[in-house]
Amino acid sequence: MLHHILNISDLTKSDLDYILSVAGNIANNPSRYGEVAKGKILATLFFEPSTRTRLSFESAMLRLGGGVIGFSDMSASSAAKGESIEDTSRVVSCYCDVMAVRHPVAFEPHKMASVATVPVINAGDGANEHPTQTLTDLVTIRQRFGRLDNLCIGLCGDLKYGRTVHSLIKMMARYPGNRFVLVAPESLQMPADIIALLDEGGIEYTVTDDLEAAIPDLDVLYMTRIQRERFEDKSAYERLRGIYILDAAKLGAAKKDMVVLHPLPRVDEIATDVDSDERAWYFKQAQFGVYARMALMIALLGLNNMMGEDMLYVSAPEKRDADRLQAGA
Ligand code: CP
Repeated sequence: MLHHILNISDLTKSDLDYILSVAGNIANNPSRYGEVAKGKILATLFFEPSTRTRLSFESAMLRLGGGVIGFSDMSASSAAKGESIEDTSRVVSCYCDVMAVRHPVAFEPHKMASVATVPVINAGDGANEHPTQTLTDLVTIRQRFGRLDNLCIGLCGDLKYGRTVHSLIKMMARYPGNRFVLVAPESLQMPADIIALLDEGGIEYTVTDDLEAAIPDLDVLYMTRIQRERFEDKSAYERLRGIYILDAAKLGAAKKDMVVLHPLPRVDEIATDVDSDERAWYFKQAQFGVYARMALMIALLGLNNMMGEDMLYVSAPEKRDADRLQAGA
């Protein structure tokens, strides 16, 4: 059974198939899962601000019939009095069945996991990883295209500090035929260790700073925010902010069935005139994040026995939307 989810690579292909399948099934009929986690408690320990991740985790557990405890601000916890993160983990383990932890410093959730007696989920650690955002992204892409392979995926913006793209590229590189276009200024390009993984795996990728030139080839355009809070040199942030802005005019050059994703929050990298385009899926993506986290907690807590066979596995979603858009409808 799954235990901690600290890095996206903690998930095997069969774990992932299970989570995507259950999440797809939940998306079709969320209310059927309303008692699956009755009596279970999720603790959300957020040492760094969040809207989507914390609230979607809490919504996910409540929608499964469980309860939620936690804090959304380090100053509201005994960390402010100097308690170590390990002691916090030991204590909160006594109060819950699963923990979701966000921290501004990379690998702090890993420290909590090293002493926890319940599963720990990394809800974003510094500039390192954000595995449940990747589950969200995969559920969304699968719902959109009916598959996760043979796609041309553009990652645009802050690829250096953006933890969501680090987890996403590692996972999407596992699927055959995927190609990546890495769109960023040189100073914010993908870290060398991830480029090395692509090279070792013989994965096709292009490095560019030209978003407009990249757009026509893409099936998925994954926009990201320049991560102001991770810059030591604030003047460097000021020089780079606003460097990529996707607007309706630029989207005109994209395929009719391309999908625009963004982990959110956005600042200015997607103009609001894109929001009404059928290719803009970033708010749907936030909805799929609830289903992804519901499915992950079902897997981590071993709640299969609470569900009928029909609630576990479904075939890949139909490509209704993709086909309709391809036809120009
Ligand atoms: N996508 C994401 O992690 O958003 P939050 O920072 O609001 O949780």
